[in-house]
Amino acid sequence: MEMNLSGKTALVTGSSRGIGRAAGLKLATLGAKVIFHGVTASEKLASAVAEAGEGSLALTADFGDMVAVANLADTLMERSLVPDILVLNASVQSYTGLGNFESEEFLRMFRTNVESSCILLKALLPEMRKKAWGRVIFVGSINGIQPAPRLAIYGSAKAALMNIAKTAALENAPYGITVNTILPGVIETDRNAAALSNAEFAESLKAQIPMHRFGTVEECAELIAFLASDAASYITGDEIPIAGGWQV
Ligand SMILES: NC(=O)c1ccc[n+]([C@@H]2O[C@H](COP(=O)([O-])OP(=O)(O)OC[C@H]3O[C@@H](n4cnc5c(N)ncnc54)[C@H](OP(=O)(O)O)[C@@H]3O)[C@@H](O)[C@H]2O)c1
Repeated sequence: MEMNLSGKTALVTGSSRGIGRAAGLKLATLGAKVIFHGVTASEKLASAVAEAGEGSLALTADFGDMVAVANLADTLMERSLVPDILVLNASVQSYTGLGNFESEEFLRMFRTNVESSCILLKALLPEMRKKAWGRVIFVGSINGIQPAPRLAIYGSAKAALMNIAKTAALENAPYGITVNTILPGVIETDRNAAALSNAEFAESLKAQIPMHRFGTVEECAELIAFLASDAASYITGDEIPIAGGWQV
């Protein structure tokens, strides 16, 4: 089946950099009008829009601020930019152990990663239903199914999102909207650049991954594009690891 997204509008949250940026660029290549998003109007965000070309635009919002998230949804509706394809990719991540996390950090992780997604879904799904075709793609994490030391808060936020995604899949299947989650393993981005620059650590991690390498943002973008396309029309409520076999 042809992967053609002409006439579709896609919002990719957290698309100034990393997986989100690659996903936005891929969707634009397939013909979608892509709304790139970042916390602030950074040069990276502007360059993503420029690279995607005509029709693309940028919006900003700090997902740690629920008013800003609601304002972003309002802006989309006011400007007739209700997405056909919603890629919920933005997240914050910190290494906090169960023995030493602070409530403030717990709330920041859950509000930014989980509540922001719920606010966007609450605002946008009723409008998306009117189009009788839609795609919601969550960018989760292998840590949502495979706990790791010091990632309990981040991992449980990702696990919560998986439950929310499945619920959204059930609620919206009758309206032609599919909802799926991709579960990246280790993908080389800004987020883990410092940690992976430690060669010994990087090699020990690769040794645990059956394919003995990290993934690329482009590989994630291909999976997101597939799920966004008509080729994935009968897939909903699912989670797809993209982790070189690390989940096995
Ligand atoms: N990289 C990995 O190995 C890996 C593995 C598993 C899962 N994931 C998941 O994949 C997704 C993308 O990860 P990545 O590595 O590509 O991320 P990244 O390179 O760290 O980029 C993060 C993106 O999220 C935005 N962002 C950061 N804080 C935000 C906030 N408070 N509110 C709104 N947006 C915010 C950033 O915008 P600014 O540029 O404006 O800061 C940027 O666009 C995340 O959900 C992550 O949990 C990644």
